[in-house]
Amino acid sequence: MRVFYGNIAAQDMEKIIKKALNTRILDKEEIIHLLSFGDNRLYSAADKTRKEFKGNSVHLRALIEFTNICQRNCFYCGLRCDNKNIERYRLSINEILECAKKAKELGYKTVVLQGGEDAFFDAEKICNIIKEIKKLDLILTLSFGEKDYDEYKAYKKAGADRYLLRIETTDKSLYKSLHPNMNFDNRVNCLYNIKSLGFETGTGSLVGLPNQTIESLAEDILFFKKLDADMVGIGPFIPHPDTPLAYVNKNNFDLSLKVMAATRLLLPDINIPATTAMETLKKEGRIIALESGANVIMPNITIEKYKAKYAIYPNKTSLNGANYNTLLDLQKKIYNIGRTISKSNGFRNETL
Ligand code: 5AD
Ligand code: SF4
Repeated sequence: MRVFYGNIAAQDMEKIIKKALNTRILDKEEIIHLLSFGDNRLYSAADKTRKEFKGNSVHLRALIEFTNICQRNCFYCGLRCDNKNIERYRLSINEILECAKKAKELGYKTVVLQGGEDAFFDAEKICNIIKEIKKLDLILTLSFGEKDYDEYKAYKKAGADRYLLRIETTDKSLYKSLHPNMNFDNRVNCLYNIKSLGFETGTGSLVGLPNQTIESLAEDILFFKKLDADMVGIGPFIPHPDTPLAYVNKNNFDLSLKVMAATRLLLPDINIPATTAMETLKKEGRIIALESGANVIMPNITIEKYKAKYAIYPNKTSLNGANYNTLLDLQKKIYNIGRTISKSNGFRNETL
């Protein structure tokens, strides 16, 4: 019986992957099938797609975690404002610029400014930081949550290039249960505002949240496609002991990899990071992700003394992107899987 079912599934799998490779369109049921039964065939189809559309080079984006202060209270996140067991920090503007200069010296093309929703960094401060970083001739990605249209507009005018805002889940009732005082429609609206302002727009989901269904993960992928996201980051949910979801205990690595690979099949030319959360759950998880559809890595160049404090989940194994030996190691690993490090700015639409 099992074998028989397996065979049926196997035939469907071939058919669905072929359709995805030919048309880049799948319906929800077909995506559910990929996420339920996806195996090496899914990963190699995603890898083949990545190679065809993005080539063999891997983009490195230097990550600066500039504040772990957050006014939000997301149930899964260690930075949530109700967590009193965390020492809070914010980098000074000089420290942020010091990191950006270091990134430039080390040869990075992009820096990513990531942080909690911290009201201290108002539009004026952020715009000053953007202008200073842009003077270094770097591509700049921002990622610090929901802002109103005018604020995003000011960031764009000041010179920022990209904005990342994960939708986290498209299941509205799940979204509501995990995000007190937040509004799903507003988050979607933020993403469309970001897109309409001309930012390269990044989004993504958490995979393995309690009560999250395979159906809703399929909906997440359809949402990325509908938004026409330029970047999609998929990360496994990892329980943090000082949050209401501390009790949840399962490893979401494989399912995250399937969601990521299926995303690559349906959005063939976007940028997809091999996320830190994947490495945290599995040794060499980042490399496995690079061989299953991903083409971006985000080494962490935050000043060492702050790094451990950006604990969105425990044991975060971020890559020390400011350490020459770590970077050399990373470079070797990338070469070992037949890939190179990109010298370009890494926009979605650049020609190979
Ligand atoms: N496990 C994995 N990822 C998490 N994030 C927040 N908390 C966790 C967690 N416990 C992710 C969210 C957020 C990003 C900055 O970190 O998806 O968008
Ligand atoms: Fe704040 Fe983001 Fe964590 Fe939510 S996920 S608490 S918005 S840092």
